[in-house]
Amino acid sequence: MEVTPFQLANNTVLSLSDSNFILPKDRRPILSEVINPDSIPIINLNENNIDDGHASSLLVSNISRACEEYGFFQIVNHGVPQELCQRVLAVVTEFFQLPHEERAQFFTTDHTKQVKVYNYYQKVEGHGKVTMWSETFTHPWHPLDDFTQFLPTSIPQYREVFGEYAREIGALMDRLLSLISRGLGLEKDYLKRKLGERPALYSQANYYPPCPNPELTMGIPDHNDLGALTILLQSEGVTGLQAIKDGKWLSVHPVPNAFVVNLADQIQVLSNGRYKSVGHRAITNDRLARVSVAMFYSPNNDTVIGPIEDFIDEEHPAMYRNYTYRDYMEEFRRQEGRRRRVKEAFEIQR
Ligand code: OGA
Ligand code: NI
Repeated sequence: MEVTPFQLANNTVLSLSDSNFILPKDRRPILSEVINPDSIPIINLNENNIDDGHASSLLVSNISRACEEYGFFQIVNHGVPQELCQRVLAVVTEFFQLPHEERAQFFTTDHTKQVKVYNYYQKVEGHGKVTMWSETFTHPWHPLDDFTQFLPTSIPQYREVFGEYAREIGALMDRLLSLISRGLGLEKDYLKRKLGERPALYSQANYYPPCPNPELTMGIPDHNDLGALTILLQSEGVTGLQAIKDGKWLSVHPVPNAFVVNLADQIQVLSNGRYKSVGHRAITNDRLARVSVAMFYSPNNDTVIGPIEDFIDEEHPAMYRNYTYRDYMEEFRRQEGRRRRVKEAFEIQR
């Protein structure tokens, strides 16, 4: 099918006749090996269960099992209005449909910029850089008033919709952190306290234009999220997200009115490896554009992270040394463009 080519904010056109977007053979996704339908757990949060201090132990143990076995799950009945989620996807889609000159105002490769459009790439040895088939728009989601002035003005509803969404996601993050704390046998506010005051809260909207041959490209390469916890909203009816389990890629199908939740590196480290931060990637789709919005919860730069004492004993010696999140991000930037092995850099060798 003919599709109108997508022009990236950096002024290049996504096209398979441009070798910059084509992965060398040994880096391409082998789509025939992806497992469908997926078996990622779907967990009913049951919105009547407002006080998770008393949430059913069944809910806590379901989440705990999902965190141990998959590091990935979907949640339904999470209490965030469906209509709001649809408005979020709509404003984000509108953003990526702005003329590329308008998006170009946000384009930067300077990682210190808080509001930015950029493209993922992979450095491939002996091959150079391959640009991913996607575009990404990042900005903080809290505190809102500090950054709204930088958000796109040409989409008047963007600020309001995102503001409302940020409040809902903030409450949901707290609930999930408390459920995960309880799953680990900790006080319900333990993880939130441990992750520190003034967490770094960023959103990342991803846009994957249709690609005539998804076997040749990648939307986002295999990576682990760096922070503590991610809540992802994805467009309905378009697949693309995959998570790895026991060496096999599983497709994370969009479930109506669900969020995908994945644990990120800091929870793996804090739990001394008990809960998993799992590798995932997004492949492209040959017919439809796909949109996703990831909401990240990360510690701030000064927070010290390391395995919690409760999880260290003779049988389970500390797997990681203590570090500040600043150190962690510096290590990440040293590895930029390569396969992320950030937490591995903080492992204690025995
Ligand atoms: C991310 C991510 C997956 C997706 O933004 O970190 O993994 O489905 N996104 O877009
Ligand atoms: Ni991710």
